[in-house]
Amino acid sequence: MALEKARVCVTGAGGFVGSWIVKLLLSKDYIVHGTVREPSDEKNAHLYKLEKASENLKLFKADVLDYNSVYSAIVGCTGVFHVASPVPSTTVEVIEPAVKGTLNVLKASVEAKIKRFVFVSSGAAVGLNPSWPKDRVMDETCWSDKEYCRTTKNWYCLSKTEAESEALEFGKRTGLDVVSVCPTLILGPLLQSTLNSSSLVLVKLLNEGYETVENKLRMIVDVRDVAEALLLAYEKPEAEGRYICTAYIIRAQEFVDKVKSIYPNYKYPKNFTEPGEERVLTSEKLQKLGWSYRPLEETFVDSVESYKKAGNLKLRKLTF
Ligand SMILES: NC(=O)c1ccc[n+]([C@@H]2O[C@H](COP(=O)([O-])OP(=O)(O)OC[C@H]3O[C@@H](n4cnc5c(N)ncnc54)[C@H](OP(=O)(O)O)[C@@H]3O)[C@@H](O)[C@H]2O)c1
Repeated sequence: MALEKARVCVTGAGGFVGSWIVKLLLSKDYIVHGTVREPSDEKNAHLYKLEKASENLKLFKADVLDYNSVYSAIVGCTGVFHVASPVPSTTVEVIEPAVKGTLNVLKASVEAKIKRFVFVSSGAAVGLNPSWPKDRVMDETCWSDKEYCRTTKNWYCLSKTEAESEALEFGKRTGLDVVSVCPTLILGPLLQSTLNSSSLVLVKLLNEGYETVENKLRMIVDVRDVAEALLLAYEKPEAEGRYICTAYIIRAQEFVDKVKSIYPNYKYPKNFTEPGEERVLTSEKLQKLGWSYRPLEETFVDSVESYKKAGNLKLRKLTF
């Protein structure tokens, strides 16, 4: 199937990942319908300033829980990037927008005769599976165990697992071409003025002056490389099924050492406790599709410089 380059819809366009995929699509001359919940809100102002936004970006007011608003944004498009989902939250309320919201976007996509639907899932829909063999790297055949997510109250993992499995099943049932991408912890420069949850991991490391942290594995990917992965998943005719999207797998201590070597003047944790049992994910399938990623140092520097530039982050510089 040759996918024509044309008009596409991005849900959750004003968020961290949404903004970067909109920017990338505009740079490739796509016409973009972006959905936001409040187009006039200051937090979406950056979208209007993106290059080519004045000609090629149209923002639609839409809540994914409201079918009609979603359909209005999708109709006339060839492709959909479904990014919108609450992240992360410790409350059970994340499930409805993730699952029912995704179903609304899927139904509207079938109705609007969308050619390909790219779903932004998460490593959270892959990795929470205690029965996966301990010596085996987790690939796309591994799914988080929904019952285990429920009993451990991992509502975000459950929301992403249910939404992604629904999306792929829906695709099989209806013939809608659904491809999903499962990124792990996303860092990188912010385009938006508000601070999203995953960026807080690095911001807090610099701000909080933690004494002790758990030496757990961090699976990191740059937001710009995630946007490239989503575009590949959309544009490559042979793309199918799920794609894990992760670049660097390092322990918290190595993470701290790397950031510290670039920004030595913050107070970093001194003690690292041993983590429990952990698993690693592989992006081999995505790399075979043509995906590559930038050096980790670039992600750290561009992230921290963007937090500083945003000004509202108030990085607290601590001396030893
Ligand atoms: N950041 C990560 O480390 C990471 C890793 C793996 C996967 N992901 C996935 O990437 C996607 C984007 O996350 P992000 O990191 O960019 O977080 P974000 O900046 O918080 O973006 C979330 C977006 O979802 C929108 N949203 C939430 N509920 C909605 C609803 N009911 N109707 C319409 N829009 C709604 C938000 O819109 P408002 O601005 O109106 O609230 C926002 O634009 C999510 O699907 C997330 O699961 C993120």
